[in-house]
Parts: sequence; C-alpha cells; structure tokens
Amino acid sequence: MSAQTKSAPKTRNTTRTIVEMKDAGEKISMLTAYDFSMARIVDQAGIDIILVGDSAGNVMAGHETTLPITLDQMIYHTESVVRGTEHALVVADLPFMSYQVTETGALDSAGRMMKEAGAHAVKLEGGRTVAPAIKKIVDAGIPVMGHLGLTPQSIYKFGTYKVRATEDIEAETLIEDARMLEEAGCFAVVLEKIPSSVAAKVTGNLAIPTIGIGAGDQCDGQVLVIHDMLGLNKDFSPRFLRRYADLHTEMTNAIRNYHKDVKTGAFPNKDEQY
Ligand code: KIV
Repeated sequence: MSAQTKSAPKTRNTTRTIVEMKDAGEKISMLTAYDFSMARIVDQAGIDIILVGDSAGNVMAGHETTLPITLDQMIYHTESVVRGTEHALVVADLPFMSYQVTETGALDSAGRMMKEAGAHAVKLEGGRTVAPAIKKIVDAGIPVMGHLGLTPQSIYKFGTYKVRATEDIEAETLIEDARMLEEAGCFAVVLEKIPSSVAAKVTGNLAIPTIGIGAGDQCDGQVLVIHDMLGLNKDFSPRFLRRYADLHTEMTNAIRNYHKDVKTGAFPNKDEQY
C-alpha cells in the first residue's frame, strides 16, 4: 500500500491533548452519548470529548431529574460508549450520592468507573465542598473534570433551573471555586448556565480549559446534550440550545411510513425476502 493511500492512524485524545488545545487557542468540542451506536457516530464525526452525562437519567430513562440514576447504570452506559469510540476522550459523570458522602467513597466510585467501564476520566459537580474528594481521586491517578454553575444534582437546593451567578456574591464564589478545582487537580471544568461575563473571567483565570453549556462564547469549549442538539426532544428549548437537526420529525415520518407499509402489505416487497 502506498504512503498516499494509507490513512494516518487516529490517536486517542487524552486529558493532556485537551489542555494543549486551550494553550493553542483551539476550541474544544464535547457532546454527550449514552450508548454504543450513538457514540460511534459522534466519535467518527470527530468530536474531541464524549461525556457520558448523568443526563442519561433524563433522556434515556425518562426521569424528571438526574438524581435517580445509579453508579451501576452509569457504568453500563459508559462501557457501551467506550466500545464505540477510538478517538474521543470519554468522560463519565459520577452520579448523585456516589461521591458526596466520603472522600473514600468518591475514590471507590471513580475507581469503579475506570476499572469496570473503561472511562478515561470522571466528572463531578460542585466547588470547594468537593475539592478534597477531587484531590483524592486525582492523587490516585484518575483525571477529573469539574462542573460549576447550574449543577443539576443540586436542583432541589436551587429550586429552579434559571441562570446561576447573576449576583456579584455568587459570581465571586464561583470564580473562587473554579480556582480551587484547578488547585485540586481538575484537568477541565464545565460551566453551566452562567452569564458569559462570569465564564470569561473564569476562563481567563485558569490554565485548564472551561467547557460551557449556556455560558457564552468565551469558554474554551462547548458541550450540548446530543438529544437536544439533534432535535430529538421537542419540549426543551432554552436560549442556549442550537438545534442542528430535527430528528423528531425525521424519525416520526420514517416510523409512520413503515407502519403504513406494513399495514398495506407494501413492506416487504419481492426483493426484500428470501
Ligand atoms: O449530564 C450532562 O449531560 C451534563 C452536561 C449538561 C454538561 O452534565
């Protein structure tokens, strides 16, 4: 085979290559995925990071919040995603109550996610209160992504999904929390639903990348939930969401056509049988 026709082997993104993207001024793309087939499409499309978000509890299981999903269920989703990828860094959410109780418990949960699911890093929500747990996990050799701003696991404490850190005091706390997460060893931090001015300050203060969702254009990268950006979910339309497809309509039409063809006997035709 000639050198021209042989395609270069694709290497796997690492936490190091992700941090280097910030240094080089290259924006970082992140999308969620929860199963093998979707992960394979996302990976082959060239996305830098796949997040196995605990939003699986919403979009895969139909729960109202992310709270009910368990560590075993997140491990199942994550191992399926890992099998579908060659290039993307796979980051898995640690679910509610799998890291908040004790630092040792947090390390156990992160360890299971790496050993049993094959994740390349874990993500957990919160600032200064979880920094000691993050340090313990990172000290064991497990990369951690932080998550600040609107942290859905605390929805019952917030009482609302509205924009966070709009008041100076909360913005200052968040900026300080971000610094603490970097100090604890995070390789990146998600900023969810905060004013772009606050996200810009955090991004400027940190050497590690910020990945925004509803946090403006100054973040080092962006993340969206794949069901939302593909238009699979018609009921969710926050301002920050750009829909890149209308798969709800596409799928409904395809399924209706199949239903009609079965009912009328138009499927299968002579070429579609043995
Ligand atoms: O669970 C999730 O999908 C997330 C993203 C919204 C960042 O945490």
